[in-house]
Amino acid sequence: MTTQASTPTSPTPLTLALSKGRIFEETLPLLKSAGIEVNEDPEKSRKLILGTSRPDVRIIIVRASDVPTYVEYGAADMGIAGKDVLVEHAAAHPGALYQPIDLNIARCKLCVATRKDFDYEAAVKQGARLRVATKYVSAAREHFASKGVYVDLIKLYGSMELAPLIGLADAIVDLVSTGNTLKANDLVAVEDIMPISSRLIVNRAALKLRREGIEPIMEAFERASLATM
Ligand code: ATP
Ligand code: PRP
Ligand code: MG
Repeated sequence: MTTQASTPTSPTPLTLALSKGRIFEETLPLLKSAGIEVNEDPEKSRKLILGTSRPDVRIIIVRASDVPTYVEYGAADMGIAGKDVLVEHAAAHPGALYQPIDLNIARCKLCVATRKDFDYEAAVKQGARLRVATKYVSAAREHFASKGVYVDLIKLYGSMELAPLIGLADAIVDLVSTGNTLKANDLVAVEDIMPISSRLIVNRAALKLRREGIEPIMEAFERASLATM
C-alpha cells in the first residue's frame, strides 16, 4: 500500500456575515481600517462567499435577518446586524450572541406610525385595542405592553407603510431614517421606540478559540467607529 504525503490544509478563514446594501457599504470603511479589502462587489457578483485581501478572512452575504443565525451556530465567526434584527433574534434565542461593539452605522429609529387622520393619542387614552402591523413583533409587543396598550400584532415581512393605507392596521412599527417613506405614503411618526444602529456580533466559541484572529479586527472596528461618532 502506498501512503500519500499529506498536504498541509490551511485553516478555515475567519468568516464575517454581512447583508447586501447599506450594511455592506457602511462596513467597507471599517474593514479597511482593519487592513481588509473585499475582492468583489456583491451588487455585481452572484457569489455569496467573497474573498478579501487577507487570505485568512472571508465575507459571506446573507439576508439581514439571517446574520444572527449564521453567527449563533458558528457558520460565521462574526457578523454585523441592526439592533432591530438583534432584538427580534434575542427574543427567541436570549444571550446567544456576544455583541461587543456598537458600530454606529445604518442609524435610524424604530417608530410607531399612523395615517395622518388617525388620532393615536386619543385611541391610547381611550384604551382602544389597536391593530399594529410590523416586521418587529417582539420589539412592538414589549413597547405596547410597557405602555399598557392592548394590541393585535400582524406580522409582515416588508412594505409596512401600506398596511394603514388599505385598512390592514391602525398603526405600524417600522424603521424611520429621513422620514421620506412615511411622507410619501401620508403617514406620520407618532412615537419613538428606540434608536437603531448596527452592532458587531461574535460567536461565543469562536471568541475563545480564534481570539488572536478576532481581537485585532474588533479593536480596529471599535477605533474606526469611535472616530466617526
Ligand atoms: P431584507 O431586504 O432582506 O428583508 P432589510 O430590509 O432588513 O432586509 P436592509 O434594508 O439592508 O435590509 O437593512 C439592514 C439594516 O439596516 C436593518 O436591520 C436596520 O438596522 C438598518 N436600516 C434599515 N433601514 C434603514 C434606513 N432607512 N436607514 C438607516 N438604516 C436602516
Ligand atoms: C427602510 C425601512 C423604511 C425606510 C425608512 O426601507 O423599512 O421603509 O427604510 O427610511 P426613510 O425614513 O429614510 O424613508 P429600505 O430602504 O431598507 O427598503 P426595503 O423595503 O427594501 O427594506
Ligand atoms: Mg430594508
